[in-house]
Amino acid sequence: MSDALAIENFELKGRSSLPQSISLELLGPTRQEWQDHVNYAGMAQVFVEFHLMLNGSLTAIKQKLELILDGASGQNNNASGPALADLATDIRSFYVAIHRHHEVEDHIYFPQFKRLFPQLLSGFTLLDKDHLILTPAIEELLWYSRSMSAGEGLAYSFLGLLYDHISVMRKILARHLIDEEEIIIPLFLSSK
Ligand SMILES: [Fe+2]
Ligand SMILES: [Fe+2]
Repeated sequence: MSDALAIENFELKGRSSLPQSISLELLGPTRQEWQDHVNYAGMAQVFVEFHLMLNGSLTAIKQKLELILDGASGQNNNASGPALADLATDIRSFYVAIHRHHEVEDHIYFPQFKRLFPQLLSGFTLLDKDHLILTPAIEELLWYSRSMSAGEGLAYSFLGLLYDHISVMRKILARHLIDEEEIIIPLFLSSK
């Protein structure tokens, strides 16, 4: 099977690990050794901590939405109030953070690493594809937040769709971030 076909079969939504054709090319050290590495305090740590923040922000957004959905009652089909505006603010902050992060990766780090480590081209092709899947998912999240900012009540059924979207996003974002770290953190550690 060619690398291109292997990548096709590891679409982000169904992926549980990096394909072997990529993992066999990874540079050491392994994840367990990163924090003790002499070069960890630098871009490696910055990336790992930023990824943690992204995962944490999306989890917090999901928890805030759960609280709003828990307020649904038989008499009222709509949610309203400051909790919705607060959620919209959090979603916009998350959007800005991940959008800027992808821009830095797409335009600076991934092109540099592709040049410096051509043996990892398949890995970066997979990460590029991940970003193409994540980008519309992030845009959709922003679209939901605009509806919240309008100041009107929102149907709980609409917020339920947002909840489903965030649940899928959490899964695919976490997968992308783990796999991205497996590919790029050893490169940061080796190139200080
Ligand atoms: Fe990424
Ligand atoms: Fe990243």
